[in-house]
Amino acid sequence: MSQPAAAATPAALSAQTSGEKLFQPLKLGPYTLPHRVVMAPLTRSRAHQPGNVPSALNACYYAQRASAALLISEATQVSMQGQGYAWTPGIHSREQIEGWRVVAEGVHEAGGLIFMQLWHVGRISHPALQPDGMLPVAPSAIRPAGEAFIENARGEGTLVPFVTPRALHIEEIPYIVRQYVLGARHARNAGVDGVEIHAANGYLLDQFINSATNHRTDSYGGSVENRTRLLLEVVEAVCEVWGADRVGVRLSPRGTFNDIHDDDPEVTFGYVASQLNEFRLAYLHVVNPDAAALERGEEPSPDALRILALMREKYHGTLMLAGGFARDSAEAWLQADRADLIAFGRKFISNPDLPERLRVGAPLHADDPVTYYGGGAKGYTDYPTLAQERGEQPRACVDQRWR
Ligand SMILES: Cc1cc2nc3c(=O)[nH]c(=O)nc-3n(C[C@H](O)[C@H](O)[C@H](O)COP(=O)(O)O)c2cc1C
Repeated sequence: MSQPAAAATPAALSAQTSGEKLFQPLKLGPYTLPHRVVMAPLTRSRAHQPGNVPSALNACYYAQRASAALLISEATQVSMQGQGYAWTPGIHSREQIEGWRVVAEGVHEAGGLIFMQLWHVGRISHPALQPDGMLPVAPSAIRPAGEAFIENARGEGTLVPFVTPRALHIEEIPYIVRQYVLGARHARNAGVDGVEIHAANGYLLDQFINSATNHRTDSYGGSVENRTRLLLEVVEAVCEVWGADRVGVRLSPRGTFNDIHDDDPEVTFGYVASQLNEFRLAYLHVVNPDAAALERGEEPSPDALRILALMREKYHGTLMLAGGFARDSAEAWLQADRADLIAFGRKFISNPDLPERLRVGAPLHADDPVTYYGGGAKGYTDYPTLAQERGEQPRACVDQRWR
């Protein structure tokens, strides 16, 4: 783990005097973030093959973005069973730990902080991605609508329909918690600065939380207390590895991605947020369910606003929001005390120096969805910084030690 980041930068201090919140520092667990512009977790499906190992190219990509107040890594499977897309990195093999160490060192050398997002996809997978071609696991045997992204015989990415997953036996649940514990320990060995537990976007922990994907009749299904049990067990176990002040949790209340639905999201997620309070986590990270409206420059729907306000009310620690933010909306939401940190996703894909661009009001490059998943440097490490646009040479990215 790196030392806590330096306190306020000159830019942050001048922002403080001008009353701008986006560029004010913030204490986050043992760290002091120089500003509030976080890089959201972004799957890019570019881990080295075979073995889903982070590579020099991945280290370059993260180091380029080290001016974020905090980098949250792409979702990283804690086990082979936890994988749901082709070429995503894991944190369960020795090679993967070494690969992540190179990423963490690159980020630290560039002055940044990185948390690893710990991931188990549950039913959002396919036998082609599972050990020994087995069925993906889930709280209940309910097939999601949609398609899985796998590698075909020619080594290309392709979409195939999801299958009906196998419902986990109650005896297996301690081993799911164990997968997160091992992932958390490996992340620590890799030298990242903390972890974020991915309990959002319709993956395994979210499948347990939401009523439509959890039809269990044992102590992990039915009541909201039971549906939340696995998340809280995972949070407790991961906090034992890291200390709660280096652990974040990501939720997506009212989310619909990956065919998820809850019959009473305010009750469900209000309960989750109030339970998470007890851990004194580094932060709670919430995905805005109406990012599309915010992106159009409008207020999110009343339902979305109500659940975001509920998260703020029930959770008393540091709150990070993501989804559809631009500079002005981020500043306005911080000013209105709706959040403490704002995570940017797509804008960070195409603007490695996003905090500086936001600070000076520079134009932003548009991202290209064609290069989101898979491939190499194109659309990944080739977006220029402002300094490069002024003619500076790019910082040497691939250090020999990173090979
Ligand atoms: C290419 C891509 C990959 C993503 N991968 C992840 C991921 O690995 N984990 C996660 O929690 N969210 C993931 N998301 C969601 C983002 O973290 C973020 O919530 C979303 O992009 C909305 O923020 P934005 O409007 O600033 O882009 C991904 C989004 C995109 C566009």
